[in-house]
Amino acid sequence: MKIENFLRVQRIERPDYNMPSWKPETLDLTNWGVLITGATSGIGEACAWQFAEKGARLIMVGRREERLVKLQSDICAELGRDKKDIVFFAQDVSKIDELESFAKKLPFDCDILVNNAGLALGTDPVDSISIDDVRKMIEVNVMSLIALTRIFTEGMKARGRGHVINISSVAGIQSYEGGCGYNASKFAVKGFTDSMRMDLAGTPIRVTTVSPGMVNTEFSTVRFEGDKGKADTVYNNIVPLVAADVADNVVYAATRPAHVQVADVYVLATNQGDAKYTVKRVGENLGAPEGMASRVQGA
Ligand SMILES: NC(=O)c1ccc[n+]([C@@H]2O[C@H](COP(=O)([O-])OP(=O)(O)OC[C@H]3O[C@@H](n4cnc5c(N)ncnc54)[C@H](OP(=O)(O)O)[C@@H]3O)[C@@H](O)[C@H]2O)c1
Repeated sequence: MKIENFLRVQRIERPDYNMPSWKPETLDLTNWGVLITGATSGIGEACAWQFAEKGARLIMVGRREERLVKLQSDICAELGRDKKDIVFFAQDVSKIDELESFAKKLPFDCDILVNNAGLALGTDPVDSISIDDVRKMIEVNVMSLIALTRIFTEGMKARGRGHVINISSVAGIQSYEGGCGYNASKFAVKGFTDSMRMDLAGTPIRVTTVSPGMVNTEFSTVRFEGDKGKADTVYNNIVPLVAADVADNVVYAATRPAHVQVADVYVLATNQGDAKYTVKRVGENLGAPEGMASRVQGA
C-alpha cells in the first residue's frame, strides 16, 4: 500500500480509533535528556520528578546548589535512578555569556529543553517601576530562554529529535495593572515561541508554550521580596494550581506521539477567569452550592 493511503487508513479510517479501548501511543522518554531551568523550586522541581518518573535523564539547573544536591539525591533514592543520569548544574541563566560554555559541560544531549526559570519582581505602576527589576525579569524570563533555545536547537535539528517547552504565563496573554515589566517579559516569550515554531516547522522539533494562571509556588514570595504574609494573600480563599498540575501539562505535551505538537497549553485555576480581574475567592468547594461540594470531585 502506498504510504499516503497507509496513513489515511491509520489516522482516519481505522475503526478502532473510535473504540473505548483505543489509547494514543505515547512517546517513551526513557533515556531522553531533559534540561530543566529553575529546577530548585516550584514548577521546575515538579517537572524534574515527573520526567524522572518517565525514565528520562535529567539536567537540573538553578542557582541554589544545595537544593539541587538534595533534589538529585531524593529523586535517585525515591525512584531508584542513577546519579550519572540525574545531574545538576548550579548556573545563573541570566549570565548569558556563560551559557555556551555551560552547554559544553553537559554529560549527555539535551533532547527536551524546559525553559522554566523565571520571576516577577514588584507590582509598581509604570511611572515608578524599578528599571533594574525590569532588566532582571527580561534577562531571566526572556534572554536566557532565547539563548538556551538558540544553543540547543542546533543539536536537536542535527540529531533529528527535540522539543522546546517554554513556560510562559497568563501574563503573556493578558496584561494587568502593576504587571508591566512581567507582562512585557511573558508577551515576549509568547511572541518568540510562536515565531520559532514556524522556523522549525520543517523539522521533527516540537515547540510548546505552557501558560499557567495562579500556581502556589515561591513565585509570589519572590515577587514581594520575601514577604510571605503578602504572598499568601494571593492564594487566600481560592484553590490555586500546584506545581505538579503544571508539570503534568508539560509532561503531557512531551509524551504525545512524535507527529503531535501541542502548541499551547493555557491552564487556570477553576475559580480564575483571567489574569487578575476575575478571581473568585469562593473557597475549597470551588463555588459548588451548599451540600454539593462532594460532587465536585466526581463522587
Ligand atoms: N507561580 C505562578 O503563579 C506562575 C504563573 C504563571 C507562570 N509562572 C512561571 O513559571 C515559571 C516557574 O515559576 P514558579 O512558579 O515555579 O516559581 P518559583 O518557585 O519561584 O521558581 C522559580 C525558579 O526559577 C529559578 N530562577 C530564577 N532566577 C534564575 C536565574 N537567574 N538562574 C537560574 N534559575 C533561576 C529559581 O531557582 P534559583 O533561585 O535557585 O536560581 C527557581 O527554581 C516562571 O517562569 C514563572 O514566570 C508562574
